[in-house]
Amino acid sequence: MTENLERLREDALREIARAKDSAAVEQARVRWLGRQGELARLGEILRTLPKEERPAVGKAVNALREAVTEAIDARIGQLQAECDAAALRALDPTLPGQPFARGSRHLLSTLLERSVAIFRRMGFALADGPDIETEWHCFDALNTPPDHPARNEQDTFYLPDGRLLRSHTSTVQIRVMESQPPPVRIISPGAAYRRDEVDATHLAQFTQMEGLAVGPGIGLADLKGTLEAFFLELFGPGTAIRFRPHFFPFTEPSYEIDIRAEALGGRWLELAGCGVVDPAVFEAVNSRRGDRAYDPEVVSGFAFGFGLERLAMNLARIPDIRLLVENDLRFLRQF
Ligand code: PHE
Repeated sequence: MTENLERLREDALREIARAKDSAAVEQARVRWLGRQGELARLGEILRTLPKEERPAVGKAVNALREAVTEAIDARIGQLQAECDAAALRALDPTLPGQPFARGSRHLLSTLLERSVAIFRRMGFALADGPDIETEWHCFDALNTPPDHPARNEQDTFYLPDGRLLRSHTSTVQIRVMESQPPPVRIISPGAAYRRDEVDATHLAQFTQMEGLAVGPGIGLADLKGTLEAFFLELFGPGTAIRFRPHFFPFTEPSYEIDIRAEALGGRWLELAGCGVVDPAVFEAVNSRRGDRAYDPEVVSGFAFGFGLERLAMNLARIPDIRLLVENDLRFLRQF
């Protein structure tokens, strides 16, 4: 029996050593270690031996199984190494690499970064909120009653459960005030959505940058100083800015900001909305907070918001807003 095993061992190792590829190794594995392989057969024979012979022979069979398993693993490693070596022989590391085009930042990203940097220097922190919002955060808390045209289904995207895609990031201002007491000085850049037909000046999704400052004694003068500083820095010296009276439900008084720069052909361009926070907004926040942290007799503040796409179009004289989202490289490479 032991002689027999010795012969089997030699056969197995020879076969494995001769295996030319992984398929051949697999064949050998099935033949020797498979469920109906040689070693399984030996196991069956083992069971027919007299009891006193079994331990010794069993040990020898186990040793054979181990030897075969090891040989197979070793052969697989060898074949892999040969394969790797062959691949490396075909490789010339002195050849030049495949060049790939270096990308650049999207105009909107650059503008967003510059805007955030300017506001941060003035002490504004970044705040974030969800794109899918409640009617409360988008309208009710912002003093926009149920019959206000902005809430019309034709103006905003509603979900079946009554939530909506925020039509401005003023929602974040409400969330911040709900979660922290004054003073507040935040900017909230992010996506806003409106049910607009897409054309040269409208997109159904655009990017807003809104801001809010609240504290004792903050008012219109702070608003004008802050936004003037911002736009002058962004558009450069030689820029004129005017605040034109306007209406927003959540600010009183409210303004639109126009800018005139010689580089823009000397025309007045409408850029942003802003105003002094309406006391009704503070009261809505208080009702949710269950305290009077935003008592309009004690704190006041200003808010503003503008679309980055519009800003980009004015800054870079882009005639069609769709160019900003179509990702045509011929357009993007200019910036
Ligand atoms: N939320 C307004 C808009 O989307 C912008 C705005 C923000 C106006 C804050 C006034 C104050 O148009």
